[in-house]
Amino acid sequence: MRNRRLYVVGVGPGDAELMTLKAKRVIDASDWVFYPVKREGEKSIAYDIAKKVCELEGKRTVSLVFPMTKDKDVLEAHWRRSVKTILDADFETASFITLGDPSIYCTYFYLHERLRPFLDVFFVPGVSSFSACALSSGLPLVIRNEALAVVSASHLEDSGWNLDGFDTVVFMKVPRNRDRLIFLRDRLFAMGFKRVIFASRCTMAGERITEEIPDDVEYISMLMAFRRDGLPTFTL
Ligand SMILES: C[S@@+](CC[C@H](N)C(=O)[O-])C[C@H]1O[C@@H](n2cnc3c(N)ncnc32)[C@H](O)[C@@H]1O
Repeated sequence: MRNRRLYVVGVGPGDAELMTLKAKRVIDASDWVFYPVKREGEKSIAYDIAKKVCELEGKRTVSLVFPMTKDKDVLEAHWRRSVKTILDADFETASFITLGDPSIYCTYFYLHERLRPFLDVFFVPGVSSFSACALSSGLPLVIRNEALAVVSASHLEDSGWNLDGFDTVVFMKVPRNRDRLIFLRDRLFAMGFKRVIFASRCTMAGERITEEIPDDVEYISMLMAFRRDGLPTFTL
């Protein structure tokens, strides 16, 4: 059955004022709101952001579990269950809300190919966390002709580590183990990056921007590595 609409909505990096007008309008107009969690009963950051500015009372709000595992069978079982939950729901308009922007490491896309034959799917972009983190640290990610790479740090040790040609690298989904993060930071310095900034909970309560690696690393954290050391200056 088509003509049922599913909006995949980015709710921004944390500060509810960074949600777009369109995100609020679409969520308010939805009968059902789906939100991703890592395990059953867990809080959803996207949900907490949306509830500050959207009318969620009176809607069906449903969590979908996307476990943090590399086990393909476990993942597929959960994705299948999430697809079924969405397709069985009796909505005309629903939202799948997601932290930041849906185009960046968003769990929804594990479901998309299974859903789109049955639903009209629309996307609502959001402010991505890496933009927010850079600006919270007072730095542009790229200027002039610099090149930017955005990578997932969770598999970094397995990768080839070829960051040649990139002036700025954003490492999302960083390991929560402090020693692994220190190892990553030291490799970056050895590769010629001049500044490595740790950014956590940007635009939310408890935001932390530091060039130290803290003892307690939360999931909502990233590293930004810059080959640039300072910004251009000129004589007045
Ligand atoms: C699954 S990804 C989702 C990214 C999201 N779609 C976006 O556009 O920012 C989760 C990762 O985003 C980063 N992240 C999200 N919000 C953040 C915030 N407010 N401060 C720092 N990092 C954040 C962290 O690296 C976290 O591990």
